[in-house]
Amino acid sequence: MSLHNKRILLIISGGIAAYKALELIRLVRKSGGSVTAVMTKSAHEFVTPLSVAALSENKVYDELFNLTDEAEMGHITLSRENDLILVMPATANILAKMAHGIADDLPTTLLLATDSPVMVAPSMNVRMWQHQATQTNMQTLRDNGIKFVGPTEGDMACGEFGFGRLAEPTEILQALTNHFTTGKTLANKHVLITAGPTHEPIDPVRFIGNLSSGKQGYALAAAARDAGAKVTLITGPTNQELPIGVEVIKIQTADQMLDAVTNALPADIAIFAAAVADWKVAEYSTNKIKKQSNTDDKTLNFIENPDILKITSNLTKNRPPIVIGFAAETNDILANAQAKIKRKGCDLMVVNDVSPRTGIMGGDENQVSIINKHNQKIVQLARASKAEIAQQIIKYIGEL
Ligand SMILES: Cc1cc2nc3c(=O)[nH]c(=O)nc-3n(C[C@H](O)[C@H](O)[C@H](O)COP(=O)(O)O)c2cc1C
Repeated sequence: MSLHNKRILLIISGGIAAYKALELIRLVRKSGGSVTAVMTKSAHEFVTPLSVAALSENKVYDELFNLTDEAEMGHITLSRENDLILVMPATANILAKMAHGIADDLPTTLLLATDSPVMVAPSMNVRMWQHQATQTNMQTLRDNGIKFVGPTEGDMACGEFGFGRLAEPTEILQALTNHFTTGKTLANKHVLITAGPTHEPIDPVRFIGNLSSGKQGYALAAAARDAGAKVTLITGPTNQELPIGVEVIKIQTADQMLDAVTNALPADIAIFAAAVADWKVAEYSTNKIKKQSNTDDKTLNFIENPDILKITSNLTKNRPPIVIGFAAETNDILANAQAKIKRKGCDLMVVNDVSPRTGIMGGDENQVSIINKHNQKIVQLARASKAEIAQQIIKYIGEL
């Protein structure tokens, strides 16, 4: 699903190859993207808005001065609420208008108003393509940062042969995919992330938990996804909104988290951001423990939970090439984290100060240092939102 959640605004102009836009809509949707189409007046001569609407399962826009459209979705909003604008097929006429900043209908107004990336798939007769006016317009558009796919050489609808033929829908799909994956530092990587607290049951109505909100782990999952990774998020109970485009596995206890981690392997990168309870009660009571009338005291015996970070770091089979632990410390922050990285056998340790004065536990901001076991370097990141910290951690990992 290479175009997962990508919103393409497709402008169809009035060329003979406009029917191929229907195939592209199908391909984009099959790749996980969505399409909203805008048609020029001439495009209506070649394909019907009904076909376009049926295939895109979206309203088709075509009029600039349409009060209903303007109230529902203003033309400025339409120009911005997308990840990319694709003009396919792009006529010589629309290329000329784009090159000169002409905005005399809805499609060209959107193209002038947008701040989205614009990709163009030209399609025209070979003489129209070779005309100096078209070539000059193309150069202007290239200089303006417009991306091109095609045209290619081949037989034309008019019976002539040469350049000007629309690139095949599959090639255009590939160009879209390339656009969205370039700079994706974790493309094709499987990243496993744990997040949130674990709840260790005492009896059917009680558990031992902790104050972890899961915010940092969820932000890491979103950042890794945005960097192109396939993400598996294994999460304890939290109130966070589940990130879109991420496989989410919900667990309650440390034992369940270990099972989920083991089942999710192999992974290229494992990030253990969950606040796993160190202990669980030695004997779970299947009945609710009653308040004893003859004594005020109640003693619970604890046993250690599995150390998921240590176990994964020391796997002989399926050990992820990069294992990252999180150390939430309240004192001697760096010294404790350096000792922990050795003890656990992971590659990186992200350490933060969770003493109550920092407001980090459960808060929206974080301040972390990244310790690298292999080069002994410590990178300190400035205090920032958990989303920004996540992006910086993912960037750091991508550069390794
Ligand atoms: C049958 C037919 C096929 C056409 N095919 C193309 C074409 O492939 N490429 C092109 O640039 N113009 C083509 N044109 C000319 C355009 O439709 C014309 O320039 C129109 O003004 C384009 O309007 P638009 O850019 O607003 O869609 C064709 C015209 C006709 C009558």
